[in-house]
Amino acid sequence: MKIRNIFLGGAVMCLILSCSSHASTKGDRIEERVDSLLSLMTLDEKLGQMNQVSPGDFEALAAQVRRGEVGSILNYVDADLVNKVQKVAVEESRLGIPLLVARDVIHGYKTIFPIPLGQAATFNPELVEEGARVAAVEASSDGIRWTFSPMVDVSRDPRWGRIAESCGEDPYLNAVMGTAMIKGYQGDSLSDPTAMAACAKHFVAYGAAEGGRDYNSTFIPERVLRNIYLPPFRAAVDAGCATFMTSFNDNDGVPSTANKFILKDILRGEWKYDGMVVSDWASVLEMVNHGFCKDGKEAAEKALNAGVDMEMVSATFINNFKQSLNEKKITLNEIDQAVRNILRLKFRLGLFENPYIVTPQSVKYADEHLAKARKAVEQSVILLKNDNQVLPLQPDIKTLAVVGPMADAPYEQLGTWVFDGEKEHSQTPLMALKAMYGDKVNILYAPGLSYSRDKNRTQIAPAVAAARRSDAIVVFVGEESILSGEAHSLTNLLLQGEQSELIEALAATGKPLITVVMAGRQLVITDEVKESDAVLYVFHPGTMGGPAIADILFGKVNPSGKTPVSFPRTSGQVPLYYAHHNTGRPANPVEMLIDEIPVEAGQTSVGCRSFYLDAGSRPLYPFGYGLSYTTFEYSNLTLSADKLASTDVLTVTLNLKNTGRYDGTEVVQLYVQDKVGSVTRPVKELKAFQRVDLKAGESKQVTFSLPVAELAFWGLDMHYSVEPGAFKLWAGTNSEEGLTADFEVVSAK
Ligand code: GLC
Repeated sequence: MKIRNIFLGGAVMCLILSCSSHASTKGDRIEERVDSLLSLMTLDEKLGQMNQVSPGDFEALAAQVRRGEVGSILNYVDADLVNKVQKVAVEESRLGIPLLVARDVIHGYKTIFPIPLGQAATFNPELVEEGARVAAVEASSDGIRWTFSPMVDVSRDPRWGRIAESCGEDPYLNAVMGTAMIKGYQGDSLSDPTAMAACAKHFVAYGAAEGGRDYNSTFIPERVLRNIYLPPFRAAVDAGCATFMTSFNDNDGVPSTANKFILKDILRGEWKYDGMVVSDWASVLEMVNHGFCKDGKEAAEKALNAGVDMEMVSATFINNFKQSLNEKKITLNEIDQAVRNILRLKFRLGLFENPYIVTPQSVKYADEHLAKARKAVEQSVILLKNDNQVLPLQPDIKTLAVVGPMADAPYEQLGTWVFDGEKEHSQTPLMALKAMYGDKVNILYAPGLSYSRDKNRTQIAPAVAAARRSDAIVVFVGEESILSGEAHSLTNLLLQGEQSELIEALAATGKPLITVVMAGRQLVITDEVKESDAVLYVFHPGTMGGPAIADILFGKVNPSGKTPVSFPRTSGQVPLYYAHHNTGRPANPVEMLIDEIPVEAGQTSVGCRSFYLDAGSRPLYPFGYGLSYTTFEYSNLTLSADKLASTDVLTVTLNLKNTGRYDGTEVVQLYVQDKVGSVTRPVKELKAFQRVDLKAGESKQVTFSLPVAELAFWGLDMHYSVEPGAFKLWAGTNSEEGLTADFEVVSAK
């Protein structure tokens, strides 16, 4: 039997490879190869391709693979075992179809980059693309050719732990950064052995989970889906993203894993997507928990009917579809279409020509990879406050107190979704400060607390004592990595444990206090900011967090990061985002807050506005905010025209000057408001941004070219168009500050 299989398999392989005069991984040749292979497959083999497993025992996996029951494996990262099981697939299964090996490579594989929220803070897509390329090269050395990244869920609620994996609250920023990651993972050609198929997830609106509670329902109407949550996924299609993953949430009662409207009408119908769609982990079977299906068989049928091609781990496809076919609940054509999408991806990846690992193990933690990770951290760090220019630390500093539970936390600084990066390779702030600046300054280290949730105050006194003996204090606080990420929602966004008490005690010494926050989300740090002279915000920075932060503290690097999310003053303000609607009673610029209200104040509804009595309406820090060690001056904002047709391109120019004494980089942001629409519109939306490097005293003209067509939106009639009327434009340093100009769109096409 085995001999026959080998000969048959070999003959089949020759047929597959020979059907195109050359082993092509290009276009229509691939379709020929897909058709040829599909025509040879039994129903069992087709169902096998649709089945992704997370292996346990190797022999059990090998037996499944040998029988053609597995199309893809995930969470298998031993290079030798991957090659071994791939050999079983290629040489011992009847048709020799290679396995697709997948992993969550979310922000690096071995060399860990800042979490995606931190990468978004760089506002540097080229840098993000570089990081994804490094991740792909390293992961391919263990046979991983498919990553479940980028996550492009617009995320506006920091109670939701998975905001850490997103590129923040803005659809445009998520689209730009998601595109960069896709390009980095997939490289110039998917058939390159270091390329990884990317996966746009979680399709769709998972970030809008009600109450910020993970896996919770969403209630997003079609217009908001199309104007806010779908654009980053459309950008992923345009970037050639090889796969999509369905999301866990039900939206308006329909679980995404069986949502024909998004998977067929939009993804396949409108966007003409020809990639492969995978469910999320057991999200097919979980439709029984949703109360959407009575059993796994119905869940499998509804998922396939809706357009899911491959099932992640719940095995309802392979276990039910023969019966479903007999009952005519599904069609053979639906199965064939799913298998085509899977085979097409495998051909595009060149797996039939190169099923085995070719990337050497030496790529892991390569110096150039670590250098790129360090650069990503440098550009992700956000300077939120710097009173009296306490930063950068001056050479006359003789003794520096380094305090806090995140100062020397090699595992925690890696952040969420790190399965393969090793804490042993982490360079912490304490390590870096000692190694890089220990010869210039005396470092006094006192943790103050053992971990972010630590409620034991006994170490605070020694930390304060060390602080008293120093010329300045740097305290590292924030979140352990486990407090963000999947299934880790919070109701209280304040610093955990006794961290606030530690900061208060350190501030009481009167020494210059620099607070560095390392977290997976924007936390509520209103009080801690007041206690600190300077504040740096670092979304979990990954392997190279230490050296980057050390260079920023001592001014070798000038921070340039910008907030990819709005920072709330209180937990109760969320969800809080800049692109909100104006409402009929927008907040007043000056708000009377709760402590100012007189006793027995008169009741009235006249002149009331939309805000919170106890927090106001404004964020602590707005989207796009970040300071520099230098200062920038914006002037001469000029528009190419003040009346434009929807087919025109608006050219925006301004002058930017570095008016300080440090070389620096400014992220110039361009926002536009459609002042009157057929439906209410956001008060402004980010439409473009540029990082501009300027030496001290240098000036540059900055130019944006904005196609008016990019102001289109889905209006009252659910028609996508640029509506004529008045527009306002901001060009500036964040979503609240900038030069403004008005223009008009005079015709709609
Ligand atoms: C998870 C996540 C998804 C991930 C998948 C595989 O539950 O929702 O983002 O890619 O399972 O680990």
